[in-house]
Amino acid sequence: MKLTWLLVPLLLVNIVAAEDDENELPLAEPCDVEACKLPNCRCSSTAIPGGLRPRDTPQFVLVTFDDGVNILNIETYRSSLYGRTNANGCPAGATFYVSHEYTNYQLVNELYSNGFEIGLHSITHRTPQTFWAQADYSTLKKEFADQRVLMSHFANIPLDAIQGIRMPFLQLAGNASFQVLQSAGMTYDASWPTISFINPGLWPYTLDHASIQDCQLPPCPTASIEGVWVLPMISWRDLQNNPCAMADACFAPPPLDDEDAWFEFISTNFERHYFNNRAPFGFYVHEWYVRTFPGVYKALVRFLDTINNVPDVFMVNSAEVINWVKNPIPVNEYREQPCRQNQPSPCIPNNCGPLSSTHTEQQFWMGICNTCPNRYPWIENPLGL
Ligand SMILES: *[C@@H]1O[C@H](CO)[C@@H](O)[C@H](O)[C@H]1NC(C)=O
Ligand SMILES: [Zn+2]
Repeated sequence: MKLTWLLVPLLLVNIVAAEDDENELPLAEPCDVEACKLPNCRCSSTAIPGGLRPRDTPQFVLVTFDDGVNILNIETYRSSLYGRTNANGCPAGATFYVSHEYTNYQLVNELYSNGFEIGLHSITHRTPQTFWAQADYSTLKKEFADQRVLMSHFANIPLDAIQGIRMPFLQLAGNASFQVLQSAGMTYDASWPTISFINPGLWPYTLDHASIQDCQLPPCPTASIEGVWVLPMISWRDLQNNPCAMADACFAPPPLDDEDAWFEFISTNFERHYFNNRAPFGFYVHEWYVRTFPGVYKALVRFLDTINNVPDVFMVNSAEVINWVKNPIPVNEYREQPCRQNQPSPCIPNNCGPLSSTHTEQQFWMGICNTCPNRYPWIENPLGL
């Protein structure tokens, strides 16, 4: 009896200490290329992985779309992306960083089943942006680790297929989001813009050691977080040479109805990568932008048609770039590799609603691939129990 009473406070002390430990990470030390070696460690650097020459390096192109996936935007994805192949005959990739609200999980399943990558962009995507700058580990665990479970469940796709995140507004939260990646067993973050490492561009690297990357939206991570990858967002330059992290966020883009000018614009930014160290080139955008401006849409399609015929250019899922960096092989070998295997996942469509939510009076409808939840899934209740 006495022993039990003694144990209770001891246990409490232990729990508090464990919570504390999560925040007390070792400070990252400058990276030592001798100690930090592939496949699991890479110093932040513009050096081409594996010491390859540029002409032996595959030029990866990453097309990504952020935010909810629903009937408003699926047509753009179907018409511009489905059925594309790279010059070696393998299916082309693209990555969707999906936020929860207004997402139709039947359509997420469709994207996945067509071979595209599904990443996370938070459950709430809430404003203001400062919320994300200040978010701590436990908040971000609910926004991302729980979203992974939500996404996998309602879209009926494997948990392991979801490996990357992009923070809302590209707002980093110091070490916290990277700790969440590590503890959830995920691979990479794709939220961190660079304007200092554009030409040559910064290749993906791990956070075992201190990063050399410029911090555009602080706070950036400074702790050593082993094995977690950063996929830097190498900025474009607009017509006045201003950097832009996303194609739809340039200050001085070409006229939005001018397909030819946009094709030139995309190509010029691409060539900065292709004719230098071939760091992955990103076309990072929101669907509304390409839907609203047909000139941009046509230029994008024309650009993709062009690169899909260039033998050393590969439009891929973002996670494939990390896999290549872990095990860099020359382009001649890479081209002959077996293609990424599509593993379509079944969806038994179910349209659920009206569902009440804890965050607003509004009722929601939700397309999913299994049985309806009791409420609209949200933070603290990702399965809508
Ligand atoms: C990240 O962790 C390092 C090492 O523990 C610490 O010095 C730094 O303040 C942390 N950054 C933030 C924003 O919490
Ligand atoms: Zn967003």
